[in-house]
Amino acid sequence: MSLAELIARFDVDDPAFIADPYPVLNELREATPIFWNEQTAQWTLTRFSDVFETLRDRRLGRSYSHLYSHAAVGRAEPDPRWAAFQQHERWSLLCLEPPDHTRIRRLVAKVFTPKAVAAMRPTVQGFGDELLDVCREKGTFELLTDYAQPYSVAVICSMLGVPRTDTQLLLDWSHAIVKMYELSTTDAVREAANTAAAEYIEYTKALIAEKRRSPDGLLVSELAQVEDDGDTLTVDEIISTTMVLLEAGHEATVNTLGNGMRAMLRHPGEWQRVVSGAVPARIAVEEMLRWDPPLHLFERWVLEQGVEIAGQRMEVGQEVAMLFGAAQRDGRRFPEPDRFDAGRGDTAHIGFGGGIHFCVGAPLARQEIEVSVAGLAARFPNLAVLVEPEYHSNFVIRGLTALHLTA
Ligand code: HEM
Repeated sequence: MSLAELIARFDVDDPAFIADPYPVLNELREATPIFWNEQTAQWTLTRFSDVFETLRDRRLGRSYSHLYSHAAVGRAEPDPRWAAFQQHERWSLLCLEPPDHTRIRRLVAKVFTPKAVAAMRPTVQGFGDELLDVCREKGTFELLTDYAQPYSVAVICSMLGVPRTDTQLLLDWSHAIVKMYELSTTDAVREAANTAAAEYIEYTKALIAEKRRSPDGLLVSELAQVEDDGDTLTVDEIISTTMVLLEAGHEATVNTLGNGMRAMLRHPGEWQRVVSGAVPARIAVEEMLRWDPPLHLFERWVLEQGVEIAGQRMEVGQEVAMLFGAAQRDGRRFPEPDRFDAGRGDTAHIGFGGGIHFCVGAPLARQEIEVSVAGLAARFPNLAVLVEPEYHSNFVIRGLTALHLTA
């Protein structure tokens, strides 16, 4: 097969590709470290070492607007129809580069130190136990809606200080908004994302006002009050910051649990290693993140002249896409990369990114997944998949529609 034919098989609108992208990703990675994706106009990286280095390369960034106008890099102005969506992400850590990124990240990072995350363990454990006990009573259950979604959203909302009664609202907004990040979307999807962002903005404005009236020491309240070397955050900055925590924190954690537990139960011997304690849940988390990751593609803009990646020279304003799923199965980095080995314990994967945008929530995410896997192993030693699951049609954020399990 020619390279062009192989690239054509990288088709995010093809249900067969979405159902199992790894054969195509593996072939692409072996055929070439980089290819031009005509549909998205992106240089696309396939190999671990290039992705690893590009994540850390300061000549590229998640945004160009701090340096160049849209016209200067040959891009159209943002579509005014999606103004609320643009407003909601304007100050998101994922859309900023230094110095704004440094300033806001420093404030957010305080909440996610290993010490702060360790202090949250009893709360996280409590949410997990409560939901898994209900699953045990049911005997058969659906991991995502009965457990992973209410669990992860409860954890984040308890950090933010969002009332538990509002968690469903936040979940619905988050689900709608993150569809905007897929490579291929329709206007109807964009419209829904924009409406959700507008509602979210109004909700958060009211929440910030409420926290200013009665502070509770939780994240929204803290961000509203923050005085860090005389620094303060505007309402718009707080809106973007809380939303990125919810979006980034929730969807990826749910999909890691779904994809990871499916992987585990397709390999019952590996599950038994976890159940017996031979492989601690903490270790198994890393392989769940590597083998079938929840996030498949991240992008960077070329910000300086002279950037060359995998032998390819790039122009300022060009975009680079990194295929995490291809990189995480790269045999140059991982021995027997297609084997799911719960005990591999390789923490230096790129599942949480790298460089200045490295996942600020990684310690919390690891703890959330560890607590879940340990809770499942303690209650359900013979856990099995009841119905062969299917994936949502999205590629960038890739996860199951449901995972029906039986004790
Ligand atoms: C298993 C779950 C998770 C995975 C796989 C994951 C993965 C990632 C990755 C790959 C990035 C880097 C993006 C880039 O470099 O372009 C990132 C950034 C980020 N993540 Fe996570 N994440 C997870 C959970 C969480 C949680 C629980 C939170 C917070 C509650 C969170 C908050 C963030 C934020 C705020 C950023 C942006 C950081 C910055 O730009 O400085 N994530 N995440």
